[in-house]
Amino acid sequence: MNGLILAGGKGTRLRPLTVFTPKPVVPVVNKPFLLYQIEVLKRAGITDITLSLSYQPDKIEGVLNEVWDLGVEITFVTEPHPMGTGGAYRFAASSVNDTTIVFNGDILTDCDLSELIEFHKSKKAEATIALAPVEDPSRYGLVVTDDDNRVLEFLEKPKADEVNPTTINTINAGLYILEPSILELIPEGENRSFEYNVFPKMLEKKIPFFAYIFKDEYWRDIGTPESYLRAHHDLINGVLKIFDVDRSARIDVATAATVDNVSVFGEGCVIKPNARVINSVLGPGVHVEEKALVENSVIWSHTRISSFAEIRDSIIGRSCHIGRNAVVNAGTVLGDKASIPDYSKV
Ligand code: GDD
Ligand code: MG
Repeated sequence: MNGLILAGGKGTRLRPLTVFTPKPVVPVVNKPFLLYQIEVLKRAGITDITLSLSYQPDKIEGVLNEVWDLGVEITFVTEPHPMGTGGAYRFAASSVNDTTIVFNGDILTDCDLSELIEFHKSKKAEATIALAPVEDPSRYGLVVTDDDNRVLEFLEKPKADEVNPTTINTINAGLYILEPSILELIPEGENRSFEYNVFPKMLEKKIPFFAYIFKDEYWRDIGTPESYLRAHHDLINGVLKIFDVDRSARIDVATAATVDNVSVFGEGCVIKPNARVINSVLGPGVHVEEKALVENSVIWSHTRISSFAEIRDSIIGRSCHIGRNAVVNAGTVLGDKASIPDYSKV
């Protein structure tokens, strides 16, 4: 069995964070995001993984090559131009010629893939899709199933009048098991979307297409700033079942500083006297000066937070400078190297 991670999107909704860092490798609790997906695949014994790339492929390859021991075999496949989710699968055909687990490259989950594989086999399915229940299905692919879990309808990003949320709230979790026969439905070298083209075609052709519905599995698309931040809070508060958080970094915390047990630090962080860090993740080399506050936030590496500055519920990119007494309010997202002058309110 193969694994394929679709990691070619532009990550526009995560801008400005994704201007210099492609979405698949944005740090999530100080680890490139794809490592969480690779871990889920590895736990199910899938060690032959293809990464389907298009946007900033060299950066993704570079970041993953820095990680010493992934414990899996990675093949990088780069499209000459974005081919869409289905086209990307077809383009990778030579490395996904067996039953393949396909992951959207921005899904954080702690699901046990072996249960999904078991389900796929028991249904003798040619395609299985994982579904997650959500409150508002309009941002996702809405999937209608029958009592036997057969997929009846697939509606990508449905309009309000196309959905009745009181009856259907199961959406495409961006995780599929596909038999190689599905490759034959996709013309070579053309742009095709699983969601708009391939799934509707499978339904038309009455191909055995089944849905595995998540129950207590964690599921989140990290592709927006709010969701990216929430993923951090869930991970550091132990909401996910399988991922250990690394709190072993050597840091320099003043005795008079307040740092809670939940927050996570990268190597070489410096927290000065009377500074407070609460429910946050700080990347390597972040400095928090005297009496500054960082609460419910994610700060990427080498950012400096000057004295008396306050940051709440925000995401701050790499090598930023937050001036003295500045107030960074909830929902702020700053790109790399941003500089906030002293006393500013953003
Ligand atoms: N290689 C490659 N080439 N990858 C691509 C391309 C492409 O042309 N276009 C998108 N991708 C990758 C993205 O990098 C991402 O990991 C994944 O495909 C899905 O794209 P998104 O842009 O994140 O889609 P979405 O979040 O709006 O919707 C998708 O995910 C939802 C779940 O989060 C759809 O699959 C929905 O049906 C689904 O509910
Ligand atoms: Mg997405």
